[in-house]
Amino acid sequence: MLRVAVMVSGGGTNLQAIIDAVKDGTITNTELVAVISNNKGAYALERAKNAGIKDVVVSPKDYDTRDEFHKVLIDTIDKLDVDLIVLAGYLVVIPPELIDKYENRIINIHPSLIPSFCGTGFYGLKVHEAALARGVKVVGATVHFVDKGTDTGPIILQKAVSVEQGDTPEILQRRVMEQAEWKLLPEAINLIANDKVSVVDGKTIIR
Ligand code: GRF
Repeated sequence: MLRVAVMVSGGGTNLQAIIDAVKDGTITNTELVAVISNNKGAYALERAKNAGIKDVVVSPKDYDTRDEFHKVLIDTIDKLDVDLIVLAGYLVVIPPELIDKYENRIINIHPSLIPSFCGTGFYGLKVHEAALARGVKVVGATVHFVDKGTDTGPIILQKAVSVEQGDTPEILQRRVMEQAEWKLLPEAINLIANDKVSVVDGKTIIR
């Protein structure tokens, strides 16, 4: 059984997609052991409670320094004894020590086809605003392993989504979630849980 912790900051629709996929058997060999949020008010925590998953808050606001916050966060994760950390809309920078410790065991969902519209400053609606401003006709989402760069780790899965005439950033964001993010993240977890993903020379091989 792959022991998974999901890290969240907000509404948690991606978390919900993972919970549902474990429940309906789309994801196998997986136990969701905890949901960790930096934000006490995140609705994602309610989703965890409703699903009977341990919910944990580790907020930088509760510590005087980043170092202290990082220590507590790493300690919390270590104690959970997890095989995989899933960043599902987690908006806080991950401590570099955590990335070293969990190399190729942290994945993230990004709402664009990396390497377009990614990197520093591209998060949330900003990604979709930038895509519409450039006038691209195809957007999408990417699941990737997390390395020390921003959105630079090995790509696991990508899915394209069409831009339609008259799209607003909000409409496009919703379509990318529905058609790509909510499918890709569960699919990636299932692949990892069934030992189908390896990383060679900074790229993934999917069997
Ligand atoms: C998603 O668009 C994800 O790609 C981005 O943040 C959003 C999270 O939404 N990084 P939710 O909390 O899963 O509803």
